[in-house]
Amino acid sequence: MSSIPIVRTPADLRERLSQARSNGARVALAPTMGALHRGHLSLIELARAHAAVVVASVFVNPTQFGPQEDFASYPRDEAGDVAHLARAGCDLVYAPTPAAMYPPGFSTKVEVAGVSAPLEGSFRPHHFAGVATVVAKLLIQAAPDVAVFGEKDFQQLQVIRRLALDLDLPVEILGAQIVRDPDGLALSSRNAYLNPDERRVAPALNRALRLAAADLVSGAKVEDVESRSRAMIEEAGFDQVDYLEVRRPDDLSRLGPGPIEGPARILTAARIGRTRLIDNIAV
Ligand code: PAF
Repeated sequence: MSSIPIVRTPADLRERLSQARSNGARVALAPTMGALHRGHLSLIELARAHAAVVVASVFVNPTQFGPQEDFASYPRDEAGDVAHLARAGCDLVYAPTPAAMYPPGFSTKVEVAGVSAPLEGSFRPHHFAGVATVVAKLLIQAAPDVAVFGEKDFQQLQVIRRLALDLDLPVEILGAQIVRDPDGLALSSRNAYLNPDERRVAPALNRALRLAAADLVSGAKVEDVESRSRAMIEEAGFDQVDYLEVRRPDDLSRLGPGPIEGPARILTAARIGRTRLIDNIAV
């Protein structure tokens, strides 16, 4: 049995946290959709380093899934998640019911224009509005001093930074480094969908990104790097590369077609079998 308390409504969350705050404690929030792996636990570690009280939310948010996506089959294991969180040193779990998050009559949508539009935004048109809406709610409900998000969803992290800035939310948004298996595959709850053959092919995504970053540093042209890397991923056995693009890290605007002159981020999404994997790398 877990030794950490679970709260299920915004009112219970507020009450718990106001007790902590009245003792002067800083609060960190780590939003998750559960199915926790080592990547999530690194979010808890980072949160711990910045606050005395660490809250993790576990909520599979229906509004960020498209109609053909994996909301129904998304892995769920609340008991396992709570046990992991207890071991990682989390103090409180916020696991609201869908009805507590989206009561009847719910009508508000938060849209972050610009940074939400390209890349994931063009393949999953309603995804970032769903993410921004639920994250805005979580940040308002928990009112944390800091909130941590994984860099694996790098575009999501930049959308959330923009959201917090634009809405004057008094929270520091922290990005946690990507956690990888030894062969380079970024940890993801969706890796559970890969069959053994697909799992063997999957690290090609990160290999292509590392090569692309090295090529850009040595002065290669963005357009050449992008097309070479896409071809590499498909030759390795992926069925389709949705995108592989070199972008400015802050607003994700396009770079190239020539060599880069400053910092960049390479972001990719590719499909293998029924699984869609994403990854990115700093340059
Ligand atoms: O990254 C995730 O797991 C989700 O998109 C988040 C931030 C918890 C919002 O549902």
